[in-house]
Formats: sequence, C-alpha cells, structure tokens
Amino acid sequence: MNILVIGSGGREHALVHKIKQDGIKNIFCAPGNAGIEELAQCVPIKADDVSGLLQFAKEKRISLTVVGPELPLQAGIVDIFTANGLAIFGPTKQAAMLETSKVFAKKLLKTYAIPSPAFEVFDTSADAIDYVKTRSFPLVIKADGLASGKGVIIAGELSEAISAIKDIMDNRVFGDAGKVLLVEEFIRGVESSYFVISNGATCINVASARDYKRLNDNDRGPNTGGMGSISPSDKMTPELEEKINRRIVSPLMEALKKEGIVYKGVLYVGVMISNNDPYVLEFNARFGDPETQAILPRIESDLVGVFMDSAKGKMFAEPIKLKEDVGVCVVMASQDYPVNPRTGITIEGLKAAGGKDTFIFHAGTKNEKGVIKTAGGRVLGITALGESIKAAREKAYKAVNNIIFEGSQYRRDIGL
Ligand code: GLY
Repeated sequence: MNILVIGSGGREHALVHKIKQDGIKNIFCAPGNAGIEELAQCVPIKADDVSGLLQFAKEKRISLTVVGPELPLQAGIVDIFTANGLAIFGPTKQAAMLETSKVFAKKLLKTYAIPSPAFEVFDTSADAIDYVKTRSFPLVIKADGLASGKGVIIAGELSEAISAIKDIMDNRVFGDAGKVLLVEEFIRGVESSYFVISNGATCINVASARDYKRLNDNDRGPNTGGMGSISPSDKMTPELEEKINRRIVSPLMEALKKEGIVYKGVLYVGVMISNNDPYVLEFNARFGDPETQAILPRIESDLVGVFMDSAKGKMFAEPIKLKEDVGVCVVMASQDYPVNPRTGITIEGLKAAGGKDTFIFHAGTKNEKGVIKTAGGRVLGITALGESIKAAREKAYKAVNNIIFEGSQYRRDIGL
C-alpha cells in the first residue's frame, strides 16, 4: 500500500511516524521536512498545489492520501481526489467550512441550538464599531476566514476592540479572511480540545488534548501556532467527554446531514469548559498542531485502517484503543518567532535526544548536505510518553535540554 501524507510540520511527522508503526512501508510526504525524510520519501510539491498532488498520486498509485493542514481542504482537494477515484482522508471543501468560515460554523451552531457563545456578524467596520460601543468587555473579535491561528482577538476594552476591527476589516491584516467579522460573547473557563473521526455516518472518539498557545510561560506573550500540548487534557473528564459527544458532536453531525453535508475525516472540537459544561469555541477540520504530536504516540490501534474506513465511508471495526500513558509535547521555536523567525541555524544533539517513548518530531527543519538546520518558526516538537504528566514532562525536558540551536525558545511550563 502506498500512502501520501500532505504537509510539512510536526503534525505530519507524527502522522508519518504512526503510519510507519502501523506497518506501511511505502510512505510519501509532500513536501515534508528533514525528520520526515528519514521515514518517508519527501516530494517537493507544496501542500496547496492540488493539481500537482493529484498528478503525483495518480502516477504513484497512492492507495490513501492523508491531509494534514487546512489550506488543501479549503482548496477542495478531497472533492478533486474523490472525483478521480482516489481514497483521501479529510472533509470536502463544503464540510471543511466548519473551519474555513467561522460565520458558517456559528450560524449552524445557532440554528441547531448547539452550545456556543452568542455572536453577531458584520460586513462593515463602522457597524462592528457601533455595536462594540454598546457592549461590556471582554469581547471576542474574530475574522471569518483562515488566519493561521491569529484571527481571534480577545479585547479587554473598547479601544482594543476598535483597533482589532480596523486591523481585520480596514487594514486587512489577514487578507480576505477579514471581509466579514464576528463579535462574540466572552465565556470564562478553561479551554480544551477533543478529537473525533467521522466516516460520514458515525464518529469514533480519538482523544482530548490541551494546547499552549502563548509564546511564554504562564500564558504570557504573543499568540503562536502552539508552543506545546498534552494529551489527555488535564481539564477533561469522562463526564465532560460524554457531554461533548451528546451535546456537540452528535447534534452537529445530524445538523450537517440535514443541510446535505457529509463530514468525513477528523474533527477538532475546541471547547471552553465553564461550570463543567462545554461550549464550542471553534472547529478545525483537521488534526491540531501540536496536539497531534501528543495524541498519536498514545494510540495503540491501527490508525491507517481507521483513516481508510473514514475515507471509504465504511463502518469502523472497533473503538480506537489508547495507551494509559500521558503525552507531553514541548515545541522548540526559532529566535524571534512568531514575528520574524531566524532560520538557517544548525541544530545539534538530535541523534542523542530521542529514545524509548521520547520522540523528536521535526517541523521547520531542512537537511543541508547532511546538516540539519532550522527552516521555520516552530522547529521541533519534543514529545514523551509517561505514566503521569510529571513523568512525561521529565522525559520531554531531558531531551529538550540535549538539543541546541542558537536562539531557541521554548516554554518551561508545558503540563504544569
Ligand atoms: N494548535 C491549534 C491548531 O492546530 O489549530
């Protein structure tokens, strides 16, 4: 069986690693990174070059394509591969609107009474500003479209809300993603994420996780793509998972069906837990990064089989079995990430840092004539499994301390 994984981050390295563990020998990754190329054949096709990927998949007789990031989903890769008779794991362009249009997702949630913060939609900055002047704070300001995880601003006071609205709608800091904007009620609580996989008819639970979005310890500094993750989330309980399935996932899948939309692939449910009740903050139509790095090493089941069942709309054979272990992932990022990451720096200590239950997942790395160098903002996701968060943290940070590159930044409090 030939499998193609699309993407180049830590999430895709974790996917390739798991697919290899599941016994697949012929793995391709487009475009991949320096870590992935030790496990798979990397091909220089960009993740959003859908026609290039289609041609490659046909040439190599790819049996299953696994989509990592959101851009190819937005570009309709699943629709195009499916129309060409190729099995692909992920939702269609229309179903992926749960992530690619926050207005679509919020309207669906409201219509079907799925718990989520109250909101208003605006297509001019003047109307949005008039509205926030009448509200109390904090308020959440969101760009409608994809904004690389940066399109959500929590405004503590009126001046912050006005400046966020102007940036999004007038200055178009997120491009066309800011044509339309939402203003959302702020709900106090703790955030967590929960992952399920759908075959279009039923969902299978994967795991919960928690992401550490801010750059610095104690949730300070700018928002990033994620500086670390743990799985399961320390904020999740079996009771909450049952509530998420009953109050959110099941009614959402029913709602999509009523709207004539079939959802296949992984669904990332981002929730705020307030007074022990979950409220939807966001959906992602893909695995999270770096949540996936903490989740996948915990999975005992054959994930390739689950991906294939999802892609083909087949019944899942059995629930996904997880190890008892906790996963902790610590992201090591480049100097000056997230603003202007410095790249091209040699990374030392990689070989000695891994080990049993410690995984060095690469993100922004490249191999220059045998020397591994930094090539992006988030560089590595150092992940460890342990019988407790404390044990997993100790292993992960031991490995982090053995890896050296100039200017590296990482949080010391992942899992605390
Ligand atoms: N870690 C958040 C995301 O993948 O969107």
